[in-house]
Amino acid sequence: MENIIKSVLVTEDEIEEKVKELGKQIMEDYKGKDLILVGILKGAVIFMSDLARNIKMPIGMDFMAVSSYGRSSTSTGEVRIIKDLDFSVENKDVLIVEDIIDTGYTLAYLTDNLKKRGAASVKVCTLLDKPERRKVDVSVDYLGFAIPDEFVVGYGLDYSEIGRNLPYVAALKEEVYS
Ligand code: XMP
Ligand code: MG
Repeated sequence: MENIIKSVLVTEDEIEEKVKELGKQIMEDYKGKDLILVGILKGAVIFMSDLARNIKMPIGMDFMAVSSYGRSSTSTGEVRIIKDLDFSVENKDVLIVEDIIDTGYTLAYLTDNLKKRGAASVKVCTLLDKPERRKVDVSVDYLGFAIPDEFVVGYGLDYSEIGRNLPYVAALKEEVYS
């Protein structure tokens, strides 16, 4: 693993502190509301499980899987639902939980899709953001860390399924994915 990593961009401690902060903020903002976290598989799984435990009130948790990158590291702009939600989001306050926003295509699609299902509100919480790469305008309501345009792995994010269980976020060596 270490042989494909260039540098650690966000440490385990930084993530822990940020997730606590985000959980607290979300708890305040959604007090008395019917909040459901919608995690985007598989990248958001680790972030969502830590985040959910820092939102100390009753919430719903559901998951969707969409195709974005497949096994390559460039986005096509095409989004397809691979696994849909188990429950209806009608009249619920939905918070989409993402690992990373890159071009924004995935999020633009998801936000629109969930609004059309009659959610009371749809907001976005992402661990990472690569603002330099944005192609479509999407609003981010809760952000962990803005990072430079580098391919990253760890804390849920993978390179060809490798690296999801690393406790930190690290940039890959260019020669690995180019
Ligand atoms: P878009 O371009 O739709 O892409 O905003 C969002 C999805 O792309 C994946 N992605 C990455 N995955 N390291 C990863 O492991 C990265 O550096 C990276 N950049 C984008 C990710 O699945 C995200 O949901
Ligand atoms: Mg991936």
